[in-house]
Amino acid sequence: MSAGRQPLKVIAVLNQKGGAGKTTLATHLARGLQLSGKSTLLVDSDPQGSARDWAAVREDHPLTVIGIDRPTIDKDIKALAEVDYVIIDGAPQAADLAVSAVKAADVVLIPVQPSPYDIWATSDLVDLVKRRIEITDGKLRAAFVVSRAIAGTNIGKDIAKVLEGYELPVLTSRIHQRVDYPGTAATGSTVLELFPKSEAAKEVLELIAEVEQFTNEEMSNGVNE
Ligand SMILES: Nc1ncnc2c1ncn2[C@@H]1O[C@H](COP(=O)(O)OP(=O)(O)O)[C@@H](O)[C@H]1O
Ligand SMILES: [Mg+2]
Repeated sequence: MSAGRQPLKVIAVLNQKGGAGKTTLATHLARGLQLSGKSTLLVDSDPQGSARDWAAVREDHPLTVIGIDRPTIDKDIKALAEVDYVIIDGAPQAADLAVSAVKAADVVLIPVQPSPYDIWATSDLVDLVKRRIEITDGKLRAAFVVSRAIAGTNIGKDIAKVLEGYELPVLTSRIHQRVDYPGTAATGSTVLELFPKSEAAKEVLELIAEVEQFTNEEMSNGVNE
């Protein structure tokens, strides 16, 4: 490892439910970290290849996106130590892919829409993640990210209570439902590049800072063990 380079950190963005905002979050995290000077690779584990489609429309192709849509992610990723961050965009349904992504990860982020139904639908994933946290002696960390929240509204006490019941932290930064997000997908870009002054860009930058902090807390805990 070269001096000054932190060890590779793997952040998996997972939720078995389609439409939770995984690809939106994963592409923004990956590109945002890269824009902040970190070398970053995006792994598309969804056989539908949304993140690969996102990257393919862009001529200058700044970010490398590779597809690993077999349950070998944890093994394949070991060959990728030359970057600062690997972001895994999760697949819907496929339980074996989720297991493999969780094994590969230092941090699991679970984007979830602020509705009890959507939160309840994450229970299998939360069980899987909690078992892995136990096996790794707390080395794996995980958090919910509220995704597609309606701007100008609080997520509500009932939602906060349901989330609390899962005993995983909820990141303070949220992604709101905004027209700017789907607009970026078609051009293989992000709100950071297309709408740098927008509320969307602001919340993405806040989220990235929080995710980096959360991930590095994990790293320092690991050193102290
Ligand atoms: N915060 C958001 N605001 C508006 N639209 C969003 C937001 N997040 C996701 N979408 C849109 O919802 C759809 C599903 O989102 P996506 O990120 O692909 O979810 P997943 O990868 O979990 O299936 C896409 O069309 C996407 O553009
Ligand atoms: Mg997706």
